[in-house]
Amino acid sequence: MNVSLPLDQEAMRINSLEQHWMPFTGNRDFKENPRIVVRSEGMYLWDHHGGKIVDGSSGLFTCALGHGRREIADAVHRQMQLNDYSPHFQMGHPGSFALAAKLAAILPEPINHVFFCCSGSEAIDTALKIAMAYHRARGEAQRVRFVSRERAYHGVNMGGTSLSGMVRNREGFPVTLPNVVHLRHTWLDTQRFQRGQPDHGVELADDLQRFCDMYGGQTIAAVFVEPVAGSTGTLVPPQGYLERLRAICDRHGILLVFDEVICGFGRMGTAFGADAFGVTPDIMTMAKAINNGAIPMGAVAVKDEIYETVTDAAPQNAIEFFHGYTYSAHPAACAAGLATQELYEKEGIFERAREMSDYFLDAVWSLKDHPAVYDIRGYGMMAGIEVKSDGAPGRRGTDLQKKMFWDGLHVKFTGDVGILAPALVAERAHIDEIVDRFRTSLDRHVTA
Ligand SMILES: Cc1ncc(COP(=O)(O)O)c(C=O)c1O
Repeated sequence: MNVSLPLDQEAMRINSLEQHWMPFTGNRDFKENPRIVVRSEGMYLWDHHGGKIVDGSSGLFTCALGHGRREIADAVHRQMQLNDYSPHFQMGHPGSFALAAKLAAILPEPINHVFFCCSGSEAIDTALKIAMAYHRARGEAQRVRFVSRERAYHGVNMGGTSLSGMVRNREGFPVTLPNVVHLRHTWLDTQRFQRGQPDHGVELADDLQRFCDMYGGQTIAAVFVEPVAGSTGTLVPPQGYLERLRAICDRHGILLVFDEVICGFGRMGTAFGADAFGVTPDIMTMAKAINNGAIPMGAVAVKDEIYETVTDAAPQNAIEFFHGYTYSAHPAACAAGLATQELYEKEGIFERAREMSDYFLDAVWSLKDHPAVYDIRGYGMMAGIEVKSDGAPGRRGTDLQKKMFWDGLHVKFTGDVGILAPALVAERAHIDEIVDRFRTSLDRHVTA
C-alpha cells in the first residue's frame, strides 16, 4: 500500500506496509486503513492526512513533558556526537552514573542503587533475577515462588508474561515460569465511580497471607504489583491495601516490588506511586517517562541492602550479577534521561501534576452521566473510563480507539477501558479538549 504523506514528509514515503509485523496491532485490519503519525509536538500528533490529534495518553504514558522537547533532542544530539556507543560491561561512561545519582535523589530511602535496561519488560525480568540473586546470597535459595496479581501488566518478556494477570497476554504462551501465583485484582463492582482510593477492598491483600499459609512464606521470593494497575484500566488500590501487602511481606521476608513503569515520574502527582501511597517497596521498576519516551530505557532501583548483599556475596574481583544488556545505560538514553529529569525539576512537573489532578479528575468525572460509560476510576493524572461492553469484551474499546483517532483524539484502550493520562504539562484547555472529544466520539459511535 502506498501511503501519501504531506510534502515535507516526502523523504519518509512508505511504499509498502506489508513487511513490518506490528506489535499489539491487528495487522490486516490496520493495513487496510492505516493510521500513520508523521509529526508530534507538545500535546499533539499529526496524521498522514494532516489531521491534528490531541494526545490523551501521552503516547503510551511515555511523554510526560509533551512531544518534541528541544532540550531532550539537543542533549541526545550532543551525546551522539561525543560518544554514540561504548560498552557498559567492564567499562562505563559518565551519563549512567549521573543519571543513577539523579534518580537516587528522588527515589524513596533507602532505595539508592539503579540497574539500567531498555524497557519495562526488561526491568521486570531484571527484577525477577535480582530477587533470586538476593535470596540466594542470603542463603535462602528455597524462595522460588513469585506472586503477581490478576489483571497485572508487567510487559511481555517471559518474566512479565509469567507474571501477567491479563489473560490474552498469557493464554497463547503456555510455557511460562512455574511457581507464580496470582492475588485477586482489586476492582470490585461496588467501587464503581469512586474517585481516588476505594474505601473498601483492603481485605483482598490477605490473599498474600493465604499463599504464605498454603505454600510457606519462606518459599516466596517476591510480590510484584503496580501501585495503580495501569494498563488494565486504572485500578486504584483500596485504602490500606498496599500497606497490608507491605506488612505481610515484612512478616515473611518477602520482597515487595512496585512496578512503577506507568506510575513513576509524576503520574500520581508525586515522584513515584510509592510516595503517593506512602509505602516503600524493596525494588522498583521503571521505564517510559524516565526519559520522556525519547529513547528506549528501563531501570530497576533497589534498596541498599539488596545491592550490598548481592555484591558482597562475590569475591572482590568477580562479576556479582550475571545479567545485563548490550544497550544497558545506552549513552543516548542516559542523555535523554538526564535532560528529562532536569526538566522535571526545573519545571516542577510532579507538583504541577498534583495541582492539576483535581481539575483533570473533575473533567473526566463529568463523563459519568454518559449512557455509554460503565465506570470511571482515577488517581493523580490518570483515569480509566470503562465503556459498556457490546457483549464481546474489548470489541467496543478496540473500535473506539480507532475511531477516536480519526476524531482527533489518541486514547490507549485496554479491553473496553480508555485510559486517559495526558502529558503532565497539559493546560486546562488541553484537558477540556481531550474530555470533550472523548464525549463527542462516544456520542457519535456508541449507539446502544
Ligand atoms: C506496569 C508496566 N510494566 C511493564 C510494562 C512493559 O514496558 P515495555 O512495554 O517498555 O516493555 C508496562 C508497559 O505498558 C507497564 O505498564
